[in-house]
Amino acid sequence: MIRVRGLVKRFQDGPASLTVLDGLDLDVAPGELVALQGASGSGKSTLLHIVGALDAAFEGEARVAGEELRALTPAGRARFRNATVGFVFQAFNLLPGLSALENVCLPAWFRPAGPAPAPRALAAAGRAALARVGLAEKAEQRPARLSGGERQRVAVARALFAGPRLLLADEPTGNLDAVTGAGVIALFRALAAEGLTVLVATHEERVTAAADRALLLERGRLRPA
Ligand SMILES: Nc1ncnc2c1ncn2[C@@H]1O[C@H](COP(=O)(O)OP(=O)(O)OP(=O)(O)O)[C@@H](O)[C@H]1O
Ligand SMILES: [Mg+2]
Repeated sequence: MIRVRGLVKRFQDGPASLTVLDGLDLDVAPGELVALQGASGSGKSTLLHIVGALDAAFEGEARVAGEELRALTPAGRARFRNATVGFVFQAFNLLPGLSALENVCLPAWFRPAGPAPAPRALAAAGRAALARVGLAEKAEQRPARLSGGERQRVAVARALFAGPRLLLADEPTGNLDAVTGAGVIALFRALAAEGLTVLVATHEERVTAAADRALLLERGRLRPA
């Protein structure tokens, strides 16, 4: 699903240049749940952004779901993200004025092309995504009336909505207590068992323990943790 070779990422800050990723290699098979560890500032989020085609300014090869990311145009990257990748962040990034269901369906309104989806079909797909994360009963609830773990599960449902093959999660349990976080990890395990590939950046041992493999990002490269 992911094959990265010799990835180099530099940030230019005026005359100074910071090399964050320095010849990094990464292979992730379909259906694998891989934990990405590393000190703060080691480049975990940077790597997730590149693999998710949010950042195309890098050197080296990054092949994800059969696409060579550096060869894509900006429009091609947008299509790739829409069709292939779901993102989950530490801050759930839900819109407070919308229900759980509306939050889940939101990405459908930002598709780069094609006719507007039929509202009924959209709502049915949104409810299916909420059911998949165990929140069928909370579809009409606004985020303020959901627990932290429920909010993160809504965010996961939103990430799953368009049927991605790859889920990229950046510290998804960072704002959750241990029990609630365990529920999110169990959900990732179940999704990986269904064939979704999951790459999760985390500082937490519990997440790492639940993964198929853990990798440590250090000095711009990965090694088994
Ligand atoms: N847009 C940017 N411009 C300049 N430097 C950046 C930019 N984004 C990130 N960096 C730098 O790149 C390095 C890696 O950042 P990154 O966010 O990937 O780390 P991280 O491993 O995700 O850390 P954390 O665990 O704290 O989230 C840091 O030193 C950061 O300051
Ligand atoms: Mg980060």
